Amino acid sequence: MASIAGDIERLETEITNAISSASDETALEDVRVAAIGKKGSVSALLKSLGGMSPEERQVNGPLINGLKARVGDDINARRDILKAQALNARLASETIDVSLPVREPAIAQGRVHPVAQVVDELITIFADMGFSIAEGPHIENDNYNFSALNIPKDHPARQEMDTFYFDPREDGSRRLLRTHTSPVQIRTMLESKPPIRIIAPGRVFRCDYDQTHTPMFHQVEGLVIDKQANLGNLKWVLEEFLKAFFEVPNVKMRFRASHFPFTEPSMEVDVGCQRVGNELRIGEGDGWLEILGCGMVHPNVLRNVGLDPAEYQGFAWGMGIDRIAMLKYGIPDLRTFFASDLRWLKHYGFAALDMPSLAGGLSR
Ligand code: DAH
Repeated sequence: MASIAGDIERLETEITNAISSASDETALEDVRVAAIGKKGSVSALLKSLGGMSPEERQVNGPLINGLKARVGDDINARRDILKAQALNARLASETIDVSLPVREPAIAQGRVHPVAQVVDELITIFADMGFSIAEGPHIENDNYNFSALNIPKDHPARQEMDTFYFDPREDGSRRLLRTHTSPVQIRTMLESKPPIRIIAPGRVFRCDYDQTHTPMFHQVEGLVIDKQANLGNLKWVLEEFLKAFFEVPNVKMRFRASHFPFTEPSMEVDVGCQRVGNELRIGEGDGWLEILGCGMVHPNVLRNVGLDPAEYQGFAWGMGIDRIAMLKYGIPDLRTFFASDLRWLKHYGFAALDMPSLAGGLSR
């Protein structure tokens, strides 16, 4: 009786080698088809049972079926190993380094210019004191910028302000770029009735250029008109403003007699300051910094807008926004404000979503 035990042993060695050298599931599937697939080598052996005598079948049948079962088990075991290896390789290749920096979204990269920030701060502070915001055009006429403010034609203030004039019109009048925000006083008093409480922040223009002067800069005007508004009120408003703006509990102030055509009396206000190393501290100290001009609105100005100075009175002030921004945020050169240098803006600018508020902090 012919035994095929030797053939089976050889075939098994061959298949086992093929299984263990299959390096992925596709290769392993090829091995399975070639061994126990319909036309595989083991299946062919099984088919050969049909041509054998019953005795041969009795011996060889279990041998071949045993081979088929072991090959199947081997293939399944190898598949599990290959599956686990593939998963591990994938996990290794798809790892994410969570310590890498995140790129900032556009809204976080944008910066608010210090002038815009300071305007927001001013509005926040004065709105809290009951002031509204007034505006006027950059292109003004001679009357609103000068005459109605009690600055006569031959007054030296007209020369001092280095005005930018437009070409004369047919009627001889010349329009100009407003040299200060004071014309908004006139416009406001002509448009509304007292009591008036406004601030007017905005751009102004003068032909001047050096480390502390640029041909365009920013001012904020303040105006209060009613029947009793007085210098004591002015002093309180300015003191509250300066404390809130410089974010200090006390501000030492000094009023010096001065002269502006549109106020009588007129004063300049200095704040106490102190240099500590490289830092300029506002509020305390032996030094003084001039910060604004102010006074009681001149009776002529009231008359020019149709208010009776015997009935109404008020006070006004004007302040350089860029200057107080430089002082508060330690920015040395005014010209850099308008150079559009992104590196400068990244350094001195403010986060777009951090709006100043009295409760949350003006500048944080
Ligand atoms: N307009 C003045 C200037 O540009 C500043 C000023 C001073 C405004 C006194 C005022 C004031 O309202 O009362 O130099």
